[in-house]
Amino acid sequence: MNQPVMGGVATLNVPAYIKHQKLINWVSEIAALTKPARIYWCDGSQDEYDRLCAEMVAAGTMKKLNPEKRPNSYLACSDPSDVARVEDRTYICSATKEQAGPTNNWMAPAEMRTTLNGLFDGCMAGRTLYVVPFSMGPLGSPIAHIGVELSDSPYVAVNMRIMTRMGKAVYDVLGTDGEFVPCVHTVGAPLSAGQKDVAWPCNPTKYIVHYPETREIWSYGSGYGGNALLGKKCFALRIASNMGHQEAQAGGTGWLAEHMLILGVESPEGKKHYVAAAFPSACGKTNFAMLIPPASFGGWKVTTIGDDIAWIKPGADGRLYAINPEAGYFGVAPGTNTRTNSNCMASMNENTIFTNVALTDDGDVWWEGLTKEAPSHLIDWQGKDWTPASGTKAAHPNARFTVAATQNPVIDQAWDDPAGVPISAFIFGGRRSTTVPLVTEARNWVEGVYMAATMGSETTAAAAGQMGIVRRDPFAMLPFIGYNMSDYFQHWLNMGKKIEAMNPAALPKIYCVNWFRTDAEGKFVWPGFGDNMRVLKWMLERIEGKAGGTENVFGTTPNFGDLNWDGIDFTQEQFDTITSIDKDAFNEELKLHNELFEKLAYHLPQELVETKATLEKRLAA
Ligand code: OXD
Ligand code: MN
Repeated sequence: MNQPVMGGVATLNVPAYIKHQKLINWVSEIAALTKPARIYWCDGSQDEYDRLCAEMVAAGTMKKLNPEKRPNSYLACSDPSDVARVEDRTYICSATKEQAGPTNNWMAPAEMRTTLNGLFDGCMAGRTLYVVPFSMGPLGSPIAHIGVELSDSPYVAVNMRIMTRMGKAVYDVLGTDGEFVPCVHTVGAPLSAGQKDVAWPCNPTKYIVHYPETREIWSYGSGYGGNALLGKKCFALRIASNMGHQEAQAGGTGWLAEHMLILGVESPEGKKHYVAAAFPSACGKTNFAMLIPPASFGGWKVTTIGDDIAWIKPGADGRLYAINPEAGYFGVAPGTNTRTNSNCMASMNENTIFTNVALTDDGDVWWEGLTKEAPSHLIDWQGKDWTPASGTKAAHPNARFTVAATQNPVIDQAWDDPAGVPISAFIFGGRRSTTVPLVTEARNWVEGVYMAATMGSETTAAAAGQMGIVRRDPFAMLPFIGYNMSDYFQHWLNMGKKIEAMNPAALPKIYCVNWFRTDAEGKFVWPGFGDNMRVLKWMLERIEGKAGGTENVFGTTPNFGDLNWDGIDFTQEQFDTITSIDKDAFNEELKLHNELFEKLAYHLPQELVETKATLEKRLAA
């Protein structure tokens, strides 16, 4: 179909292999609104990827790195104003405000549509509209879903090829009438005739908008990460959490879309478990997912299913099965090095897109924490000369790498299994310098849901705004739950009841961890990284009924002797510093739980209120 788009200058040029009329009509409609100069249907091939990258190098959007140092890799530097997710510009436009709940920005759908129609009218002028078909999850998996992103950013197209299963094969799954989530993205920077483009177009006005009822995503004004790669936070978390909840509301079992890594851990005896762990953005999910056990843990193996998002569904046997809907990692570069995550470093040796890191004089990349000593000269992420004396960061704290999951040397054999992997435990962790102990096991599902629901964490650079402030981040999902948070808690509680009814033995255990407690000098006490294996091992032994622990006010915690200390000098005293429970601090913490519950009073599950009352009684005893 080569007809011109109504009211625009582009022709549709639909490839013959696309047979989905509704999809073609939608592309035509969006093109009529946004008025691009060209429409390009991505096929997902390597040729196409190489060509788009070459075009971006020519346009100054990306630099090709030295192929001898970093083959087939690029560096993109964003506009200094477009460096992180914009939570205050992110909206859930459900039919009613209550459905979005007090933790989401909301606007009535009709009102938002009017605003966006104005902004999107002609927003792609002078640009190419890329049609990006993608599958979140293995193509054809019963847990996977399809999306199509229309974007005027070639940077988005190439990143989506790494981050999702993107390309022609998606149309085979879609057929003539398959369902897809429509995602429209623009950098919001139309070009008039003859106007020269900038390297990173964007707009000071930004809107990241979700319509849960019609399952649509509209993103305006940003070209960065979760604002623009719409398969990730917008679809795989905000829209997908709605889909899983809506399915349960309609009488099905429903499913969970979570901000969780998934890892496999195998003991020397060959016993394997999969666990899913939720941490807020930039709190080490990628490092935990690729953990290398300490040398003294001979024979233990950790393998990665995913590093950021999990879609989880009950199977016929009552167990919860999880897939990683993504196909790549969009990880935080600063702090990553061969000591903190050598698997990640190995995965970035080639075929990687870096964003907002610094450029070395020999055409490679650098970021804070990569090496002990910084190079004597760099070009920083803003394109300026940099030396260690500059007094600024060479890489932006939220600088990223985009890399295919298949480049991870410890990728799990089942990472692409359409059936998913069975989950034995959920781990929830915040970044807390005080109060919260190293690890706690919930006594039961409801207590675990309570722990996850009341989790707090100090803010990081992954979202625009002040860093280091403790905010409640329930389930590490505060910016990602696409509906009312109290209903989300209820959905989790109901899921526990459903599993218990099907197969009580299949109910995963729930743990709460905190790797980030500090001493009186403000230094981290727990070594973290590979040593987190010590905590993981305790959890697995608990699951198998083999490890000890002591019940305290909050749940069960290990005694010093319950963890394996081979190969590390870690004293009982240090252990006490990070596991002690200070009743006064916990009483203060409970006041914050109270504040959260007051905010979430509408539909707040009674079981959580009762759990808090029990906890208060235990603390007072
Ligand atoms: C991410 C985030 O990019 O959580 O994964 O911000
Ligand atoms: Mn994340």
